[in-house]
Amino acid sequence: MALKSSPARTHAIFPTGTCSGRSHSRRRAGLRPRPASQLPHRLQPEASVIVSEPIILGIETSCDETAAAVVQCGTRVRSNVIATQHELHRRYTGVVPEIASRAHLQRIVPVIREALSMAGIGYDNLDAVAVGHRPGLIGSLLVATSAAKALAWSLGVPLVGIDHIVAHLHAGLLDAEPVEFPAIGLVVSGGHTSLFLVHRPLEVDLLGKTIDDAAGEAFDKAAVILGLGYPGGPALDGLAQTGSDRACDLPVAMLGRDSLDFSFSGLKTALLYAVCGQPQRRGRGHAFPRDASQLTQQQKANFAASFQRAAVTAIMRKLMRALERFDVRTLLVGGGVSANSRLRAELGELAQRRGLDLRLPKTEYCLDNAAMIAGLAAAKFAAGDFDDWSLSASTQSEIADGRVIV
Ligand code: KG4
Ligand code: ZN
Repeated sequence: MALKSSPARTHAIFPTGTCSGRSHSRRRAGLRPRPASQLPHRLQPEASVIVSEPIILGIETSCDETAAAVVQCGTRVRSNVIATQHELHRRYTGVVPEIASRAHLQRIVPVIREALSMAGIGYDNLDAVAVGHRPGLIGSLLVATSAAKALAWSLGVPLVGIDHIVAHLHAGLLDAEPVEFPAIGLVVSGGHTSLFLVHRPLEVDLLGKTIDDAAGEAFDKAAVILGLGYPGGPALDGLAQTGSDRACDLPVAMLGRDSLDFSFSGLKTALLYAVCGQPQRRGRGHAFPRDASQLTQQQKANFAASFQRAAVTAIMRKLMRALERFDVRTLLVGGGVSANSRLRAELGELAQRRGLDLRLPKTEYCLDNAAMIAGLAAAKFAAGDFDDWSLSASTQSEIADGRVIV
């Protein structure tokens, strides 16, 4: 039987009353630019006391989006610039790390300039520079991490390193009212699928995660099986609109009665066999008797809708399990798959049924973006929790193994 525990209801609201809504334009005398010899090894927390309405530049290059954004007070997005690389990776039906990092290098400076220009500010107005420095592709992460360090150093403002996965949980708070904690958090992206108990923006417990493919990865692989374009998730979502979701009965992995983990690889294989048939021995290897090119458009749509139903059902069942266990009134959802039309509809119905405050990001904040990085950084900024110049990129999330106060 599911255990129901009730974490202390802290009613912590974020941001913590730091924003009055006044327009912000300040130049912090004496902070920039400074000769290297005068720069502190670690900037001191006093900055958080002085600045009550921080304007933070966020930079994000963890995968195949080069992004920069300016966010004020943690939630007010003043600009959100995203340069996608889809055209570069389409022919490979997946992200090629070397191509991605080279493209980030070419785009990072114009993207940052565009973000400042759209926000109507100059470098002088920045109170901090935040960067998504983990997890992701190492060569890609290094571009934003190096750029953020160089900028923060030359401007003499704090550097704030942010975990990309935790930032996805913040996406639903952008351009939105403050939220009540604790919350259940769901991140469904191309690289991660995880459930969290979120005590406050920077304190999360990992409740469950995928043991194989991430949800977005499963959508992308299903799209390849069906011969759809790249990126696969949106293409499959679009095609599913015209299909019958009961046409094909695909498996929903539950992984035991109490598990909050996810598994999508069985679903992907079941779709592969349903579309292409059982693999047959040919010489030394195996081959499939048919492929998606032999399907009619309606058959493809039926497979897409059936796959989407199974994938979304798997996510929703685990989410409902988590909600049974914890007494929360807020649901934070983020990551590319939170743009999925069926998932959004089912989450909306669930929230209505249970009276939950559902924070589903606007579509532009579902996918990788820098606004969520700059937004979450405001909480670290308020706590005076800055990084020094040794901040490095890492392929691993800080929250890979349980509770983390980031
Ligand atoms: O969060 P994100 O931009 O990158 C990672 O952090 O991984 O997520 C990208 C993933 C891709 O796998 C993409 O196919 C998926 O999100 N995605 C979708 C939809 N839009 C994007 N999956 C299902 N339905 C969608 N509408
Ligand atoms: Zn992401």
